Amino acid sequence: VQCVYILGCLLLAGTVSLGSTAEILENGLPILWAQTASQVSDLPIQNGILTPNPWNFLHRMSLYRLVIVATDPFKGSLGTNTTDSPLWGLALQLGWMLTSGRLADPTGATTCGLQTGDTSCISTQSWWGCINYFVSALPFLSGAQQGFMGPEVQVRMQVPADAEDLCTTYANCTALYPDAMSKWNAFFQGLKAAMESPLPDNEKKDYLLGLYWTAQMASIYASAACNARQSHYSSAEVSFANNWLHSAEYVSAVRFHSSLEKSVLFLSPLPSRVLQDAPNTADLSQEETHTLYIFSWMNSIDTLLGGTLIRAWRSAMCSVDAREKGREMLEQLVLNPSFPTSTVFSLITMTCSAQSTT
Ligand SMILES: *[C@@H]1O[C@H](CO)[C@@H](O)[C@H](O)[C@H]1NC(C)=O
Ligand SMILES: *[C@@H]1O[C@H](CO)[C@@H](O)[C@H](O)[C@H]1NC(C)=O
Repeated sequence: VQCVYILGCLLLAGTVSLGSTAEILENGLPILWAQTASQVSDLPIQNGILTPNPWNFLHRMSLYRLVIVATDPFKGSLGTNTTDSPLWGLALQLGWMLTSGRLADPTGATTCGLQTGDTSCISTQSWWGCINYFVSALPFLSGAQQGFMGPEVQVRMQVPADAEDLCTTYANCTALYPDAMSKWNAFFQGLKAAMESPLPDNEKKDYLLGLYWTAQMASIYASAACNARQSHYSSAEVSFANNWLHSAEYVSAVRFHSSLEKSVLFLSPLPSRVLQDAPNTADLSQEETHTLYIFSWMNSIDTLLGGTLIRAWRSAMCSVDAREKGREMLEQLVLNPSFPTSTVFSLITMTCSAQSTT
């Protein structure tokens, strides 16, 4: 059965020159990567239990490094290069949060994360740090439970007194966020299973990226637990933050392959500092302004259409081929300076065969 979906898509004007703005790379790797743990035993261990401190930037980045290294031999269809793991996207995102000042204490009550204080401190009051906790600590706990950190490695995240609402072990993260944890488990189990699967590589890749994005989105939904922390920011920052979360829906629907190289393209035009309400975006580069514009545009169109745009997008992304096209389109939209130079209403017809729907 053939089904045809028509996706109405408003594409935007924009003349941008590409160039890196927010500082997210150091020697081609996420910032401070060289200082992170390269093996599990580099992290603190207490009574046989691994106890990383996710409120320290280097420890939190180490969680990514350890998961990337541990899953590398399993990624097969995702590519042979060490930079092909989709988890690089999250590691780079964490680096961007640090350099743009988003992990610092937004209340001003402490110097946590400030240049004048402990620069590697992640504030428990930072909304961004809290959101990221769900896509760093949770996958690490799940991966460790699935044996990726070695046999029977137990983990308990250190937790400051003012963040005791956040889960710290596999057991209590599963109790509090069963959906997110089971989706991360499915991703890690899927990596192992894909090694044995007879599917062609492009389908395996699509399948694994599907598991990955399902898990990431489940973590993002669970991170609604961080909402109260938004009260520490300007309305410009809150609106950017919400648009940024919303844009994840589009990126996830195409199962974006968030490798190191591709993620750099998407992350470097993000605003390089926390936004203030004073209407002074003059110090933001053209790329940064363009990105803010695209994000808020996606969100406002979607709000206007009552969520129809994201639903149409999701249902159009119904096959391996359609998702490949969708990825290209999204890349064009965010990155390509010569992409429609005037506001265009373009209808994109996508043909999907029901049997290739996964
Ligand atoms: C792996 O990726 C890096 C960074 O893009 C590139 O320089 C290198 O040539 C790639 N290696 C292989 C074997 O493809
Ligand atoms: C999670 O479990 C740990 C270890 O048992 C405990 O210290 C912590 O308070 C628990 N956290 C929550 C949010 O229940």
